[in-house]
Amino acid sequence: MASRVSVLIDGLSLDAPATWLRLQCPCASCFVPGIGERRLTLSEVPLDLAVADQFVDDGGVTVIWNDGHTSRYDMALLRLLRLVERRRMQHEPRLWSGGHELPTVDDGAFWGDDALRSEALASYRDEGVLVVTGMSTEPGECGRWLERLGVAIREVPFARIHDIEYSLDGYNIAFTADPLPPHTDLASYTWPPSGQLLAMLQNSADGGDSIVVDGWNVVDQLRADDPAAFTVLAEVPVPHRIYSDEGETFSRQPIVRVDPAGAVVGVRYSNQTLQPLPLDEPRLDEWYSAYRALTERILDSGNQVHRRLDAGQMLMVHGHRVLHGRTGFSGAEARRHLQDAYFEFDDVVNRLDRLEGVAPT
Ligand SMILES: [Fe+2]
Ligand SMILES: [Zn+2]
Repeated sequence: MASRVSVLIDGLSLDAPATWLRLQCPCASCFVPGIGERRLTLSEVPLDLAVADQFVDDGGVTVIWNDGHTSRYDMALLRLLRLVERRRMQHEPRLWSGGHELPTVDDGAFWGDDALRSEALASYRDEGVLVVTGMSTEPGECGRWLERLGVAIREVPFARIHDIEYSLDGYNIAFTADPLPPHTDLASYTWPPSGQLLAMLQNSADGGDSIVVDGWNVVDQLRADDPAAFTVLAEVPVPHRIYSDEGETFSRQPIVRVDPAGAVVGVRYSNQTLQPLPLDEPRLDEWYSAYRALTERILDSGNQVHRRLDAGQMLMVHGHRVLHGRTGFSGAEARRHLQDAYFEFDDVVNRLDRLEGVAPT
């Protein structure tokens, strides 16, 4: 008996191990009707699962398994299985460095045109950054924008929507008029927010231009030039802390996260909130020299894009990829008011998948 199912119907080919296809049996005992979630577990399937017989017709394929169960896969289901099997595998990140023109979209056009909205969100997915212009400067607009997109705010202890204004009693360096080196926010979480909006409500400051850096690109450069430095940043957990009078956040995680294929999928970098490393860390010296090498690349103007955000302009970044910062500005008399809100990158990509029809309902 065959341990695989091979079919070619109406231009669609499928060649799959028996277990792969058996788990997709759509019958009412294997799946909950109308819900699309599985009841069947592999423990109910024989270890020596095989195809006893299969019948192909124009409408699909019927498989009779060696335990007597019969499964019917129609063409619509077979097409869906081929689509889902490839989902989220086709988008390579587009890395960028200084001089890159940031993808930009007008807010009215974004909401008025589905195709343009898809295109803008795809740029965000692939480049980790999007600038939205022409937004309202009413406080809370970034939260309403997320709500309209169908994306939940990720709340953290300090505020739901954060106000960044010059203030003498702020809880972090962003409240000063000092330059703010590029960083990712809330490195002090095991899973920092993977998306962030920074919406400028008011900006008459002299200076205070926004800076963004593609952290994945910078880390890839380091990996090419100094593989040992890359490895130590990907392996040694380091502590970060952000706190206020009321709130406390702390984590101990490596700077770089790689996926099982070795691709960089996460960078955390927040020099201002890095805590002392454990003194018994055996690679302490190597870690500090790797961190210095990474810092030099982040501060290298060849890796930075500078863009002044005027009132009504919003920066949207991938929180595990694109570092943001600003140049210094002219102190107390300047009016510079920024609001930011966090969310999860996945939620935006999932909205995009629905828009593009690759997440059928
Ligand atoms: Fe920040
Ligand atoms: Zn079944």
